[in-house]
Amino acid sequence: MKKITFLLLLSILSFPLLGSVTAYRGSILHFLEDPAQSRVLDESYQYIEDGLLVVANGKVKYVGEYQDIAHHYPEHWIKDYRGHLIMPGFIDTHIHYPQTEMVAAYGQQLLDWLEQYTFPTERKFADKKYARKISRTFLKQLISNGTTTALVFGTVHPQSVDALFHYAQKLNMRLIAGKVMMDRNAPDYLLDTPESSYEESKQLINKWHKKGRLLYAITPRFAPTSTPEQLRLAGKLKQEFPDTWIHTHLSENLDEIEWVKSLFPDRSSYTDVYHHYGLTSSRSVFAHAVHLEDEEYPLLSSSQSAIAFCPTSNLFLGSGLFNLKKAKDNKIRVGMGTDIGAGTSFSMFQTLNEAYKVTQLQKYPLSAFEGFYQATLGSARALSLENKIGNFTLNKEADFNVIKWAATDYQKFRMQFADELHERLFALMMLGNENNIKATFIAGKKAKLHRW
Ligand code: GUN
Ligand code: ZN
Repeated sequence: MKKITFLLLLSILSFPLLGSVTAYRGSILHFLEDPAQSRVLDESYQYIEDGLLVVANGKVKYVGEYQDIAHHYPEHWIKDYRGHLIMPGFIDTHIHYPQTEMVAAYGQQLLDWLEQYTFPTERKFADKKYARKISRTFLKQLISNGTTTALVFGTVHPQSVDALFHYAQKLNMRLIAGKVMMDRNAPDYLLDTPESSYEESKQLINKWHKKGRLLYAITPRFAPTSTPEQLRLAGKLKQEFPDTWIHTHLSENLDEIEWVKSLFPDRSSYTDVYHHYGLTSSRSVFAHAVHLEDEEYPLLSSSQSAIAFCPTSNLFLGSGLFNLKKAKDNKIRVGMGTDIGAGTSFSMFQTLNEAYKVTQLQKYPLSAFEGFYQATLGSARALSLENKIGNFTLNKEADFNVIKWAATDYQKFRMQFADELHERLFALMMLGNENNIKATFIAGKKAKLHRW
């Protein structure tokens, strides 16, 4: 209590310096540790039935019991969200914005799906106007679904990334994105060269990386569409700009893996291809990792690389079942990814719903605690952004959602029969969708999409 009072007094006394202070009253849930790895489950999260979240200048200043501190604040500073759940913003660690228009493309597995649907769609992003239009639609989908940070693929066209960053900056989002590097095994109209991809990526880094909340990811599409020379130059870029991210695909589909073996016969595994070119690191995120061989786990772990678990995509493309437990047992950080457009929903609730089914098939039923950890702090850790986002500890950036426990008639009916916290959270995780997101706040400001 003493510490709390001190912090409060400090924030109130320094009010003129703090600028705008707002407080949000509601049930608050956030995570401090991975519930699956914490010795005491209760210590891995904080749940406050009647809580207050205090935000100043876009940062978290306090989270605690409403009754302990509310009297320090003028009433008009407090927004009343009683009956709702306040949670950190969701974090999507793998998504393709140009594929927003092609979710639910029928019938193919990865390599044919790329040829038949994906490459023709991505061709359209040579047109900057088109890229801007889809960027707006995409960001609206993220916000409507409560996703406040994402690691995003553009297309091979640098202007696709300009368009996305342009609007993400208007929203003040913490967003990581990059231009695809791809110099072989795709239609001519989508190919760059090792040199042009290096130069264009470098220009984009200089233009956007760390501009406001924006960050850059060096983005070779996947090993089959890059020559060794292009991967070498991607590694060189990473050396020149070590605080950028690496974002690519790994071990998603069995035919893809065979193909990688034939293209890189000297490498001991798919992971080793990336490792060899200097693309594994604490800021490297590999999407899928469904069919890793045993020797690849220690390589990912020792290089501190992270995996994006994309359950809706892995099921939709018939790719396979990601082994969450094995990755965690090997001390590999894992984030959640929707992988739109192979994924089938922008909603993190729906992504966790399918994650649950994937883990069930492996006799490891994902709890709602672990699920919501994964979608918030777990994903922040996978992106090495846990010092900035992912929970409500002091001075984190105030990205958060106000969530309706029940948004449809059936959800309301079902919730009547869920008493205990985990039961309620699990029903929300399995049944929730964008209708459950009442409001999304980015750096302390309510995102207002109708302004666009
Ligand atoms: N592997 C290479 N490109 C892609 C892509 O666009 N989507 C998915 N799911 N896997 C890929
Ligand atoms: Zn992908």
